[in-house]
Amino acid sequence: MFVHITGTGSYLPERVVTNDELSQQLDTTDEWIFSHTGIHSRHIGAPEENTSDMAIKAAQNALENAGVAAEDLGNVIVATSSGDYQAFPSVACLVQDAIGAKHAGTFDLQAACAGFVTALQVARGLLQLDPRPILVIGAEMMSRIVDWKDRNTCILFGDGAGAAVLQTSDQPGGLMETTLRGDGSGSHLISRTGGTRRVEPTPEEEAAGVLPVLRMKGRAVYNFAVKIFDEVLNDLLKRSKHVFSDLAWVIPHQANSRIVESVARRMNVPLSKFFMNMETTGNTSAASIPIALDELNRSGKLKPGDLLATVAFGAGLTYGGMLFKWTGALGQV
Ligand SMILES: CC(C)(COP(=O)(O)OP(=O)(O)OC[C@H]1O[C@@H](n2cnc3c(N)ncnc32)[C@H](O)[C@@H]1OP(=O)(O)O)[C@@H](O)C(=O)NCCC(=O)NCCS
Repeated sequence: MFVHITGTGSYLPERVVTNDELSQQLDTTDEWIFSHTGIHSRHIGAPEENTSDMAIKAAQNALENAGVAAEDLGNVIVATSSGDYQAFPSVACLVQDAIGAKHAGTFDLQAACAGFVTALQVARGLLQLDPRPILVIGAEMMSRIVDWKDRNTCILFGDGAGAAVLQTSDQPGGLMETTLRGDGSGSHLISRTGGTRRVEPTPEEEAAGVLPVLRMKGRAVYNFAVKIFDEVLNDLLKRSKHVFSDLAWVIPHQANSRIVESVARRMNVPLSKFFMNMETTGNTSAASIPIALDELNRSGKLKPGDLLATVAFGAGLTYGGMLFKWTGALGQV
């Protein structure tokens, strides 16, 4: 039995915030942000919009693309670190109700920016037990959890949601090798307070009333990302007995174009194979890979049978990747 991605969808909020707009409230410039990150603008959710609203739109989009009815879904999984509620109800339950997935199981999964890749692997395991189609969504409202006064972090992130429908088939292809890793020794590098752990706010944070917010040691995360990226990609290629030139596209986590450029240099491979859209989305965490995959799919740049790789990394630290053959609607390969 093979597990295929048979449809994708995405949603980005209407409002676009450019670097220039940020520089009106923050000690930064478009030149600094773009040259350090490759990000020019990001989408920011409207005040009345929630993570589930974005997830629902991406989900409907993906179901339509796959030609799958919501009531035929076996499970709805949402990868997110910025759900509507701090713990429960899950975003997946809100999506399930809104789209009419009457017979589906639901849960959220938290693996930060590696959430979508992790959710794909979990879904693949579930499909061995229950072959009904699974909807896997990455959805993040990062604008609600960053500190808009911290120029080191807030400039990086954006809001959005992406989704994929997974279906089983006898047709060879679909999801192949997966690498998933955690390294909790780096847990202090990106964190968001507000859980049971007591963290004393700094006087500035107390005064600003900004907790709980995301905190990050950017340089250390950058070094970590560059280090693990080619390790993961080489591991996937080696285990599947492929070489880099067999890949049609690499879809990296859309964190920072400099990370991707550095990886391409280190691996001595063409940068043009890496699909990047962070210039206009920023880092949408668990949503970044499915949004990019949907953009690639809808732009007509994917052909059935194309070999694709994703690599993601994020808070935890979590990281990993997946190799898969593009299917599109079942029956095309
Ligand atoms: C955050 C990041 C862009 C910072 O770039 P950097 O080259 O590492 O910059 P540094 O943190 O070393 O800071 C260099 C200087 O720029 C300043 N700076 C930081 N953000 C700035 C901004 N938005 N505008 C202007 N200056 C800024 C710093 O204050 C520092 O100034 P100083 O030298 O006077 O102290 C980069 O480290 C990065 O992208 N890291 C990975 C983060 C990431 O992807 N996280 C998500 C993972 S899922």
